[in-house]
Amino acid sequence: KSTVLLGVPVETGASQRGCLMGPASLRTAGLPETLQALGWSVEDRGDIEIAPQENMPHANPAVHNLAETRAWIAALEPAAYEAARDSRLPIFMGGDHSMSAGTVPGIARHAAEEGRPLFVLWLDAHPDLHTLDTTESGNLHGTPVAYFTGQEGFEAYPALTDSVAPEHMCFIGIRSVDSAEHKRIQRLEMDVQDMRAIDETGVLVPLRAFLDRVRGANGRLHVSFDVDFLDPGIAPAVGTTVPGGATFREAHLIMETLGDSGLVGSLDLVELNPFLDERGRTAKLLCDLTASLFGRRVLDRMTRSFG
Ligand code: ARG
Ligand code: MN
Ligand code: MN
Ligand code: MN
Repeated sequence: KSTVLLGVPVETGASQRGCLMGPASLRTAGLPETLQALGWSVEDRGDIEIAPQENMPHANPAVHNLAETRAWIAALEPAAYEAARDSRLPIFMGGDHSMSAGTVPGIARHAAEEGRPLFVLWLDAHPDLHTLDTTESGNLHGTPVAYFTGQEGFEAYPALTDSVAPEHMCFIGIRSVDSAEHKRIQRLEMDVQDMRAIDETGVLVPLRAFLDRVRGANGRLHVSFDVDFLDPGIAPAVGTTVPGGATFREAHLIMETLGDSGLVGSLDLVELNPFLDERGRTAKLLCDLTASLFGRRVLDRMTRSFG
């Protein structure tokens, strides 16, 4: 059981500053020690850096920090690939969600070499399905899913080696969708579970159905966890709070179920903004949720996991 931790201090994709402190906050909350206590060997590779960038304009005038995002993607893709190659379940500690435009393609390249399809579970209030042409805010954390599923309109991002099939995506927790994203969800027939779906059936029904699909395809699963998936009442440290998020118990149940499945091969922890936190509570909660994914249990009733 080995994990690589990689810090990704990017905040240029977000609407407010502060996410660059995310990796430090997760370390301060004790993430490495928590995983070690669960029997994992932990290699912390420190934080990735990019060089200062020249301004790069775009036809959509709302788009900003394009050069920085491009540079982060270029730096992250090989780092994520290597982390997946070298460990059982690497963790990418963000950083805003634009970083997943680098981590997911790197993981996808590793999966392709293993000959396994990559599936992605997107735990988020938002689907982050904008292209550079449709984003209205111009905040590029709203674009990673459209990019790594191979949509058009990303000439300004690095060319993709391996994309994720839209039918290999599952979104849970969605409750804020822009109209261009809505159209894309319908056109691509993506598996999007909004909060109404969770209220009607509970989180396990859609989650187990998705895990069955991953298992049936001998797939590899990447989990991308946006802090705003959680209810702002338990996780205030995020710039894009949306009311009505996942509860403490729903979130732990999801992470325990994912851990039991043994299918998860990589994890993003994104959008933690420590500048907005209250005495570290959001960072500590993320740390505990990660522990649930990595095998921490109240009582011993694991089915199968990291074998
Ligand atoms: N859809 C909105 C936008 O494009 C919000 C995106 C929020 N994304 C996130 N990763 N927090 O601006
Ligand atoms: Mn591997
Ligand atoms: Mn997001
Ligand atoms: Mn979000």
